Amino acid sequence: MKQLSQAVTNALSRREFLVAGSSAMLGMLAAPRVFGRAAAAAAPPSMPVSMSQEPLPYAFDALEPIIDAKTMEIHFTRHHAGYVNNLHRALREEASLQGRLLEDLLGNLASVPEAFRTVMRNHGGGHYNHALFWEWMSPNGGGAPEGALGEAIEREWGSFTSFQEAFSNAAASRFGSGWAWLVLNPEGRLEIGSTANQDNPLMRGVADLVGTPLLGLDVWEHAYYLKYQNRRGDYVQAWWDVVNWDKAEALYADATRAAQG
Ligand SMILES: [Fe+2]
Repeated sequence: MKQLSQAVTNALSRREFLVAGSSAMLGMLAAPRVFGRAAAAAAPPSMPVSMSQEPLPYAFDALEPIIDAKTMEIHFTRHHAGYVNNLHRALREEASLQGRLLEDLLGNLASVPEAFRTVMRNHGGGHYNHALFWEWMSPNGGGAPEGALGEAIEREWGSFTSFQEAFSNAAASRFGSGWAWLVLNPEGRLEIGSTANQDNPLMRGVADLVGTPLLGLDVWEHAYYLKYQNRRGDYVQAWWDVVNWDKAEALYADATRAAQG
């Protein structure tokens, strides 16, 4: 039943945006390249987030006991699907939003017609953040990053443990709903921070942190309350055991390539 409802959700979103998705790909190919380190946050990604809700890359119970199956199911089929539905409604209603990458829309909210700016910020942001969040976790996750990202983290924070403490503090200290992030900032350095609600670091001029997201943690209560109740710190601590560093490493490689032109 769980698989069925997920399949229906995915089938609907795929069918609805078959055309829009093709346009988005064309838009990506036509997007102007922006060179230079200072423009890192604006460089078009080689792995753009789809406008559709892609299937969850694992079963609802795959991250047990860190993330319980019920939380995962509600989070994916209700919360994330809700953001996608509202985003799609805006895309249907406003032609000027079609054929553009989600990263472009979120990075240039001022270019979104005012009547659609808030829905793009909240629901476009919500879709983007969650689409990546599922990929930032894996049943085979945990451990520490390797390669260039692992080295960059050690350079910036001295050790992986110090990095974890700083990231966990950012997640714990975000008041209310929001996200903790590791980004490659516009100066080409790794940076930790947090954003409110469904804001993300692509939203220049809007969010509390600017850069290309490499890793993000959802600290909305809907992400953990069923299992951890008010103990956000326990959720954050446990989450490290399911972090998919392969995804973060791939995003870092992509972002540094884009920053170097
Ligand atoms: Fe969430």
